[in-house]
Amino acid sequence: MKIAISGKGGSGKTTISATLTRILARRGIPVLAIDGDPNPNLSLALGLSDSANTAAMPRSVVERREDESGKTSMVLTDSIENIIERYGLKAADGVTVLTGCRVEHSGAG
Ligand SMILES: Nc1ncnc2c1ncn2[C@@H]1O[C@H](COP(=O)(O)OP(=O)(O)O)[C@@H](O)[C@H]1O
Ligand SMILES: [Mg+2]
Repeated sequence: MKIAISGKGGSGKTTISATLTRILARRGIPVLAIDGDPNPNLSLALGLSDSANTAAMPRSVVERREDESGKTSMVLTDSIENIIERYGLKAADGVTVLTGCRVEHSGAG
């Protein structure tokens, strides 16, 4: 099962995500929590330290590819198992958390 949580800033997305992942993990369900916010804090909400929170995956884990028709899509450059092994952190109640790519510096869009 995949659950995506989105919405406006300050509406409780991170709080709900952290609570939901912990409830599911406590029931024995393996949970992978992925923070896709460019200003991430899900791992903090899952009890990890600030330095763990800033240890985000590099942008190179995804790549933009174009098919014959010119349609572009984002694809993983490694298997999800390898990405979890390399960048996943164990958090509260055994939830595994992956922090998505951060905005590293300002620049033109
Ligand atoms: N159900 C709630 N009742 C009261 N305050 C809440 C509730 N859910 C979240 N908050 C508080 O609201 C603020 C924003 O929540 P957060 O989960 O960080 O939102 P988002 O991730 O959508 O920006 C935080 O200070 C959080 O503690
Ligand atoms: Mg948030």
